Amino acid sequence: MKQQREQWTSKLGFILAAAGSAIGLGAIWKFPYIAGTNGGGAFLFVFILFTLLVGMPILLAEFAIGRSAQKDAISAYKFLTPGTAWPWLGRIGIVSSFIILSFYSVVGGWIFIYLLHIFLGNLQIESAEQFNQLFSESIMNPYLAVGGQLIFMILTIWVVGRGVQKGIERASQIMMPALFICFIILIIRSLTLPNVGEGISFFLLPDFGALNSKTIIYALGHSFFALSVGNSVMVTYSSYLEKNTSLSKSATVIVIMNIVISLLAGLAIFPAVFSLGMEPTEGPGLLFVVLPAVFNEMHFGMVFLFIFLILFLFATLTSAFSLLEIIVAVFSKDKPKRRKKVTWITGILIFLAGVPSALSFGVLKDTTIINKSIFDTADFLASNILLPIGALFIALYAAFKLPKSLLLNELTINTKHGKIVFTIWYFLIRYIAPTAIIIVFLDSIGMFDWMR
Ligand code: TRP
Repeated sequence: MKQQREQWTSKLGFILAAAGSAIGLGAIWKFPYIAGTNGGGAFLFVFILFTLLVGMPILLAEFAIGRSAQKDAISAYKFLTPGTAWPWLGRIGIVSSFIILSFYSVVGGWIFIYLLHIFLGNLQIESAEQFNQLFSESIMNPYLAVGGQLIFMILTIWVVGRGVQKGIERASQIMMPALFICFIILIIRSLTLPNVGEGISFFLLPDFGALNSKTIIYALGHSFFALSVGNSVMVTYSSYLEKNTSLSKSATVIVIMNIVISLLAGLAIFPAVFSLGMEPTEGPGLLFVVLPAVFNEMHFGMVFLFIFLILFLFATLTSAFSLLEIIVAVFSKDKPKRRKKVTWITGILIFLAGVPSALSFGVLKDTTIINKSIFDTADFLASNILLPIGALFIALYAAFKLPKSLLLNELTINTKHGKIVFTIWYFLIRYIAPTAIIIVFLDSIGMFDWMR
C-alpha cells in the first residue's frame, strides 16, 4: 500500500499554520521599518493595494496548485505539467526560501539578544539615544549576533524535524490571540504618550508625493514577503490539505490577519517614535529601539516586554518553519526516516549561509555589494527580485497553463458565491497581477526613466 502522506489534522490547523507562515517578521518588524523609510502612509496605502490585488490572487493560485497536486514544491509542477520547464518555479522557490531564512534567522537571533538584555537588566535606561546605542552594540557583537542566530536555527530545525502535523501545527495554535492582545495593550500605551498626532498622521495619512519607483517596488516585494507568496511555500503547505476546505475563505482570513497585524505594529510604533523624539527612518532597528522604550513607560514594563518578545519569537518561528519545510519536503520526499537528517543538514547550511548577514552590522560592516550591506543584499535579492519573479510566473502558470476546470473546481469547493469569487480571481490573476508586477519591476530598474 502507498504510504499515507501527512496532512493537517483540521481546517483550523491549516489556517493557523498558513497564517503562522505569513505573520512574522514581515508584518511586525519589517513593515514598520520599510514604511518608515519609504514615506509612511503612502507606503501603507500601496502595500494594502498590492496585497489585495496582486498578493492575494497569487496566494490563491499557490493554494490551488498545492492542493490539486498534493506534492512538494518541485514535484507539484512536474505532476501537473509533466515534461515542461515549470518545475524550475519550485527550484527558484527553494533558492529564495534558503536566502530568506538565512537573514530571517539573524533577526530571530536579535529577539534572543533582547531576552537576554531583560535578564541582565540592560534595558533600565531612559533616553532614545541609549536605546539606540544598546541596539547597535548588540547586533555589532559577533558572538551575540551569531549565537542568537544559531539558537534560532536550532529551534527551527528541531520543530520542523518532528514533522508537519506534530511540530508546526501545534506550535501555531496558541500564539496568535495572545499576540493580538499584547499589541492592543502596547497601542493603548503608545497612543497615550504625549504628542502622538504627528506619528499617527505620518502612518495613516498618505503623502503621495513620497512615492517613487523605489518605494513602489519595496511595497510590491513586501506584499509577497508578508503573505509568504512567490516561492511555493504555500504550495507546500496546501499540499497537506484535504479536499473540502474553502481556499478563498482561508486566504481571506490570512490576508485580513496579516493587514491587521501590520496596522497594529505601525500603530504601536509610529506614535511612540515621534513622541519619544526618535526617527521613523531608523531602519532595521526601529522595532528594537522603539518598543523597549514604550514598555519602559509602563508599570511592569519589563514583564510585558518579556511576554511580547516571547510572542514575537513564536510568530517569527512559525514563519521560519515554513521556509525550512518547503526545502525539507522536496529533499525528504515524504519519507519520515530521511526527514530528520535532511532537516539538520539543510538547517545547518542555512545557518552558515546566514553568518555573513549576521556579521554585516559589525565586523563585516564595510563589506558592501552595490552600496548595500550583506544583510540588505540578501533581503533585496530575495524579496524584491526572486519573489516578484516567482510570483509573476506562478500567476502566469495558473492563468495560462493550468486547465480552467481544475482551478474552477479547487476554488469553488465549499465556497459561497464560488462562481463570482472565481471570476474576479481569474481576472486578477490573468491581467492585473502579471501587468502590475512587470510594470513595477521594469520601473524599478529604470526602464521608464526617460518619461520623467
Ligand atoms: N511571511 C513571513 C513574514 O512575513 C516570512 C515568510 C515565510 C516568507 N515564508 C515565506 C516570505 C515565503 C516569502 C515567502 O515574516
